[in-house]
Amino acid sequence: MPNYTFTVNGKTVTVDAPADLPMLWALRDKLGVRGPKYGCGINVCKACTSHLDGEAFNPCVTPVSDCSGKEVTTIEGLADGEDLHPVQEAWLEQDVAQCGYCQPGQIMAAVALLKKTKNPTDAEIDAIQNVCRCGTYFRIREAIKSAAAKM
Ligand code: FES
Ligand code: FES
Repeated sequence: MPNYTFTVNGKTVTVDAPADLPMLWALRDKLGVRGPKYGCGINVCKACTSHLDGEAFNPCVTPVSDCSGKEVTTIEGLADGEDLHPVQEAWLEQDVAQCGYCQPGQIMAAVALLKKTKNPTDAEIDAIQNVCRCGTYFRIREAIKSAAAKM
């Protein structure tokens, strides 16, 4: 099988995998990076949301070969050592998570939104497509606004 080299959370890694292996399985099964969650596998639920070269992407539908030479960031790579990212801090302050399953993807989507839009409107926040079966949308919105105010 071919090798693909890329960085994950700042560390260079090489995986031996078929070109069409979804990046989600390269991360979870080959590299043990399990923050990105599997929900649907068809780019609908967004539970797997992570960043590729700083932009939100969905590794369940991105072949590992498309990540060659790129920078992948998952929820595990968001904090700076012991210092949480401001969005993670806001999530804790607002007590956003319920079961927690969708939350890594929600946080990564929120960080991507705030990179592009410093003070998002309710409509811009609601345009995030990540599904939360526990219905934490109101607290997500409050946490994004609180993080935006601090960043
Ligand atoms: S697992 Fe549902 S969008 Fe990736
Ligand atoms: S917190 Fe349970 S699915 Fe979102």
